[in-house]
Amino acid sequence: MDGMTPDTLDDRARAILRDNDRGGYTVPTAGLYPYQWNWDSVFVAMGFATFDRDRAWQEIETLFEAQWPDGMVPHIVFRVDEPTYFPGPSVWQANKGPLPSSGISQPPVAATVIRMLAEQDSARAEALFEPLDRWHRWWHAARDPDGLGVMAITHPWESGRDNLPDWDKPGQAIDTSKVGDYTRRDTSLVDNDQRPKKADYDRYLALVQFGVDRDWDHARIAAETPFFVADPGITAILLRAERDLRAMAETFGRDTNAIDARIARLEAGHEQLWNPEAKAYCSRNLRTGAFAPDGTSASFLPLFAGVTDRKDELLETLDAFTNAVTYPVPSYDPQSALFDPLRYWRGPSWAMVNWMIADGLRQIGEDQKADRIRIDTAKLIRKSGFAEYFGPLQGEPCGGQNFSWTAAIWLAWGLNEISEGTD
Ligand code: DGY
Repeated sequence: MDGMTPDTLDDRARAILRDNDRGGYTVPTAGLYPYQWNWDSVFVAMGFATFDRDRAWQEIETLFEAQWPDGMVPHIVFRVDEPTYFPGPSVWQANKGPLPSSGISQPPVAATVIRMLAEQDSARAEALFEPLDRWHRWWHAARDPDGLGVMAITHPWESGRDNLPDWDKPGQAIDTSKVGDYTRRDTSLVDNDQRPKKADYDRYLALVQFGVDRDWDHARIAAETPFFVADPGITAILLRAERDLRAMAETFGRDTNAIDARIARLEAGHEQLWNPEAKAYCSRNLRTGAFAPDGTSASFLPLFAGVTDRKDELLETLDAFTNAVTYPVPSYDPQSALFDPLRYWRGPSWAMVNWMIADGLRQIGEDQKADRIRIDTAKLIRKSGFAEYFGPLQGEPCGGQNFSWTAAIWLAWGLNEISEGTD
C-alpha cells in the first residue's frame, strides 16, 4: 500500500467506509458514484457490521426507504443532486417511489445480509421482513411474468454487471436512434479503457428512455421491451435470498408457504440456464431463447444459492477460469475472445463476487478452493488497495479507488487474518 497512516489495512478499510458515509448511507466511491447504490449498500452493511452494528442496519434501512409502492427497491437512490453523475434523476424521471430514484433494481442480496445481522438484532430484521418479502414478490411478478423460474433483467445495469459481453447480442435489438447527444461523466473520472464503450452507453440511455416512455410501468416494460434477458446472477442471488427470507420467516413464526413456492420455482428454473456447450450457467435472451456463449463469474453463483445439480461440471469450469489467471475469479471466461482483462465486467475480478463464490464452494465442502479465492482476494487488496475491481492477470487496481464494497469485504471476510506472503 501507500505506506501512509492509518497504517493497518483494517483501519484503512474502516476509514474508507467513514469517508464515503453521507449520513445514513454510503456512496460506493466519491466522484464516480455519488449516490446510494442498492447492492453496494448491502455489502457495505457487512463491513460496518464488523465495527458499528447500528450503522450497518441504518445502511439497509435507508435503502428500503426508497422502496416503490409496487415493491421494487431501486438500484440508485438520489437523495441529493450531484452534477458529477450522469444519468441523474432528471434523466430517469422515475418518480414512483418516496425518494427520487432510478427506475430499475439490482441484485437482491439484502435478505442474505439481513439474516446474517439478524442473529443479534432480531427486532430490526423483523421490521424489514415485509419490505423484503414485497421486493422478492416484485422480482417474480415484474421480471418473471411467465413463471419460468428465471429472473430477467430489463437493463444491463439491473444485473449489476453492466457491460458483460452477455448483453452485447441481446442489446442489438435496442433502438438507439433517438438517444441524441449527451456527455458522460464516468470517463472523465476513470480511464476510458476501464469503462463501458459509447455503443454500450447509447443502449443504456435508450433503455432508460424506454422506461420513461412507459412511465416506469414494469408490467408494460416486461411485455414490450426488446431487452429481456434471463440472468443467472440475479436468479441465483434471489434464490439464496429467498432461502434466507424463509429462515427468518420461521424465526418470526410466519407462514412460509408462499416463499416455499417461490423457492421451488427458482430451483427448477435454474436448469434452463445450463448451457452444455459452455459447461456453465449462462444468461439467455428470453426474446429468442439464445444462450450467451461463455461462462462468467455469475455462472458459479448457483452454488451460493444451494443449487448443486451441476456441481462437478461447474468445478471443472471454475478450475479452467482460475488456472488461466493469477488473481481469480475473472468476471468473464478468460479463454474467450471476448475476454478483456481491464474493462469492468468483461474480465476483471471483483471482491464481493469472490466472497459469494467462496461461500458457495464452502456449502459443497470445497474448502480448499474457497480458501484459495479468499487468499487471492486478500493478495489483490494488499497489492493494489481498495480498488473497485482488479485486473485478473496482473492485479492492477481498476475503476474507482477507495471503494466501499472492497473495503467492506476486506473487513467482513476477515482478510487481515491472511498474512502477507501466504500462498
Ligand atoms: C454506472 O453509472 O456506471 C452504474 O454502474 C450504473 O448503475
